[in-house]
Amino acid sequence: MKGVILAGGLGTRLYPLTYVTNKHLLPVYDKPMIFYPIDTLVKAGITEIMVVVGGPHAGHFIQILRNGRELGLKHLEFAYQEKEGGIADALSLAEDFLDGEDATVILGDNTTDADISKDVQEFSGGGVIFLKEVPDPHRFGVPTFDPKDHSKIMKITEKPVKPDSDFAVTGLYIYDSRVFNFIKAIKPSARGELEITDVNNFYIEKKQLKWSMLNGYWRDAGTFDTLLEAGNFWAKKS
Ligand code: G1P
Repeated sequence: MKGVILAGGLGTRLYPLTYVTNKHLLPVYDKPMIFYPIDTLVKAGITEIMVVVGGPHAGHFIQILRNGRELGLKHLEFAYQEKEGGIADALSLAEDFLDGEDATVILGDNTTDADISKDVQEFSGGGVIFLKEVPDPHRFGVPTFDPKDHSKIMKITEKPVKPDSDFAVTGLYIYDSRVFNFIKAIKPSARGELEITDVNNFYIEKKQLKWSMLNGYWRDAGTFDTLLEAGNFWAKKS
């Protein structure tokens, strides 16, 4: 299993902070944000990773991550996403790196203390998403559960006005190599991006999507409030 961290975009929600560097390099307590998703992968035994970067400050990643050895990585590669084409577009850049292997994918602004080793070890094809109960599901991809069988997800809706459940689809996914066929089949959404939610809905259609509840703390640190809150969480935990 290899890992892919998606760290592109302009981070406009964090202007003016992101005028000077990439969102994923901003501090969350005592570390750059991207150290947290790297740590999540390393703890799950994944030490070969690609970081997909983008935007005007992409060079800063090399200065901070160097060859990744100090963070426990054996192999670190970078890809550059030319435009803000969305999460699925960023993931498409990892196709050659993965070379047919399965991948654990994590968004560079997601911080969690959950241990996903078991899900990684037991992965047997298809896709896996990780859910977390949140007070503000309208900010995320949200699952609709089958009313007759709550273990089944019927669809995922990206940022629904009226969410069907109180769960967020976190930015943590495990995919087999079919993910690239699905990415090629989807069209840009209203916000002009290739949505990872559309990819996950493809897996649902093929009855190939499993889900797991993320045990522990999880935040996407991409807004001022969640950046502060995530910093406070990790400060207390350290
Ligand atoms: C993205 C995904 C969304 C997911 C969220 C998790 O949203 O599109 O489905 O719930 O990450 O962090 P974005 O941060 O791009 O708005």
